[in-house]
Amino acid sequence: MGLSRMLSRVAQGLRSGLKGRVAAPVTGAFRNSFTVVEEATPRLNRCELYVPGTQAKIIPKAAKSKADVVVMDLEDSVAAGEKETARKNVIHALKEVDFGNKTVAVRINGLYSHHMYKDVVEIIEQAGERCDVFIVPMVGTDKDVYMADALVSQVETAVGRKKKLGFGLIIEATMGMMNIHAIAGASKRNESLHFGVADYAASTKSRTTNIGGPNRYYGVLTDQDGDKPRDFFWGDPWHYAMSRIVVAARANGLRPVDGPFGDIADPDGYKAQCFRGAALGMEGKWAIHPSQVAIANEVFSPGEAEVAQAKRVLEAMETAQREGLGAVSLDGKLVDIASIKQADAIVKKAEAIAAM
Ligand code: GLV
Ligand code: MG
Repeated sequence: MGLSRMLSRVAQGLRSGLKGRVAAPVTGAFRNSFTVVEEATPRLNRCELYVPGTQAKIIPKAAKSKADVVVMDLEDSVAAGEKETARKNVIHALKEVDFGNKTVAVRINGLYSHHMYKDVVEIIEQAGERCDVFIVPMVGTDKDVYMADALVSQVETAVGRKKKLGFGLIIEATMGMMNIHAIAGASKRNESLHFGVADYAASTKSRTTNIGGPNRYYGVLTDQDGDKPRDFFWGDPWHYAMSRIVVAARANGLRPVDGPFGDIADPDGYKAQCFRGAALGMEGKWAIHPSQVAIANEVFSPGEAEVAQAKRVLEAMETAQREGLGAVSLDGKLVDIASIKQADAIVKKAEAIAAM
């Protein structure tokens, strides 16, 4: 075979090998490392209390709860035949219920459903401006965000809405998890990424029917060591998904929020889930029952000692910088310019909570 024919065969092979592959994302992922990340509209997100849109009587109670965010749901907690009723209830609540200074959100139906456009159109047209955020479920690609953005923008413009709706995007399918960086950077409306653990488990075909929480089979057995008893250490099956959401959200100035924990009779389990989310950088967690609200608020609020220590770090660094130093020792531990950012985040969070 001549050289030119051989090269053409190689080129053909490469082309067919590439066919069907997904183009690299153009938003979110490929900025310069010196880009200043713009933070989304600041809000407290320690706890998001979900209320099914069908539960008209419960909505005013949720409005009086201590949750930072109340989410009225039109998606999975509402049966197909109840969608219209739920939407009417939510519109009524948005006009009549006093939500105080809470963030008010509505989880609309996903793009997969014909209920979605009506949720968007009717809520914006009929419910005034009290809704702050649409929670968009089952986001799979940046184009989903574009579509939701375009629809919301049209209706907002048509009614002359002054306050622009923000988006909370639920990452809960393998496609969304794959495309997460493009999704996170796809709209100026984006404020938060949420981990929809139940649908994610279904999408990955994970062998569990629990909503969130650990799995007794996900762990490791310590090595054999003669006759010594071996230990089994449980792992967190959601670690990868949670970390990926935290990274994509923070890299795009969004808040990562952990999703539901289904066992409402297990406050200790819920609390442990809150702690591991907070340790990873999650901003807060959903509550699917009012009893979970106080737990999330407690865990996702910096404690007094933590705030006092953060203030000491800031003071120490102020002194250091006056003396032309970039790092000093505080209580025998190194603090440097990165410590200022860590401490500042804690102090700012505490101030936002105090202002609530
Ligand atoms: C939430 O929507 C979930 O699927 O967990
Ligand atoms: Mg879901």
